[in-house]
Amino acid sequence: MNNFEFKNPTKIIFGKDTIKKLESEIPSDSKVLLLYGGGSIKKNGIYDQVKTALAKVDVIEFGGIPANPEYSVLMEALKVIKGEKITYLLAVGGGSVIDGTKFLSAAANYKGETPWDILANNIKTEKGMPFGTVLTLPATGSEMNSGAVITRKETQEKLAMGGPGLFPEFSILDPQVITSIPERQLANGLTDAFTHVLEQYMTYPIGALLQDRFAESILQTLIEVAPKVLKDPTDYKAASNFMWSCTMALNGLIQKGVPTDWAVHAIGHELTALFGIDHARTLAVIAPSHYKFNFEAKKEKLAQYAERVWNITEGSIDDKAYAAIEKTEAFFRELGIDTKLSDYTQDYEGTAEKIAERFTDRGWMGLGEHQSLSPDKVEKIVKMAY
Ligand code: NZQ
Ligand code: ZN
Repeated sequence: MNNFEFKNPTKIIFGKDTIKKLESEIPSDSKVLLLYGGGSIKKNGIYDQVKTALAKVDVIEFGGIPANPEYSVLMEALKVIKGEKITYLLAVGGGSVIDGTKFLSAAANYKGETPWDILANNIKTEKGMPFGTVLTLPATGSEMNSGAVITRKETQEKLAMGGPGLFPEFSILDPQVITSIPERQLANGLTDAFTHVLEQYMTYPIGALLQDRFAESILQTLIEVAPKVLKDPTDYKAASNFMWSCTMALNGLIQKGVPTDWAVHAIGHELTALFGIDHARTLAVIAPSHYKFNFEAKKEKLAQYAERVWNITEGSIDDKAYAAIEKTEAFFRELGIDTKLSDYTQDYEGTAEKIAERFTDRGWMGLGEHQSLSPDKVEKIVKMAY
């Protein structure tokens, strides 16, 4: 096992009817900016619950943060933060609203000239403006980690940022919120969380027995609850297991002491930036090709995953490893997620070259757990995913 340090300061408040607990989490003398997305919270009652809980606090609102949070919209919110002397941010939404809020938390304290540099130069935020979240969509794990991904339409970029100062102070996780989520977003959430685990697991064996079993148990739980969540989002037992699995998939715990990959996300973000494909769907497009292309380097873990998660016990290591990739792709398809780029766009010719060129320009010369996935290899993986 590799050496590691682990600190996760986010307080999780989990369970039925917990949104009212907001009242005791935000200091009463704060000036709060409540941030939300396209308005789903106004239809499903979450907004009313938040407003009731914050009745005694000075609150200003900023809505309209789109899926794949857009830099220019966030810059409008930054003006409000500065103009209104906001002291506390509250994100009410999914990964996009929470990520947008993290960017604002960083940008509010940033001393440089243009906040985009936080993303372009990957500046780690040591201390941001304090913020909390009310999660409305289980998927990204953003509610309990310190990372964010921001989109800039103008340049078709989607870049990551983060830092130890960007953990939410608290996150409220009421699984009942999933009852209003459209099926497409539920499938996205399942796929995203599943792939988060794979990125931190599908590398090479390092003797981290517990981390492997944490990862496998999250995958097993997601596989078990997926059909239940899709069939009936009011099934609280399934909803609560779904929500906690998504949080645990990316709160830092399972990646401690083990090698991690993250190439699927790096490539996937480009597909969202170029074509606007939902984040989770880009992962389902890239993951199967990525695992096939890197088969030799990953086959031992693929075979372990085959045995322990998919109960594939027959055949050689190669047989099991290959069957595991097939199972993964079939799982995504069962959720209603297409796994080829051509399922999403007919304009895919040249995409692989473009992504390889962008990675070269950014100096991303070696992705993955061995830092060996060079832009020419990325190009091949994307072509395999057409
Ligand atoms: O905008 P509203 O009206 O709220 O509607 C949203 C949005 O249209 C809707 N929704 C959310 N909760 C709902 C609901 N609709 C009905 N009922 C509810 N309770 O769902 C749509 C998608 O929301 P979004 O926040 O975009 O989804 P998700 O949580 O999947 O977030 C995706 C973003 O997170 C980033 C992705 O790149 C993408 O930009 N990621 C963030 C990560 C992180 N910070 O750790 C890691 C991930 O790998 C990912 O990259
Ligand atoms: Zn993701």
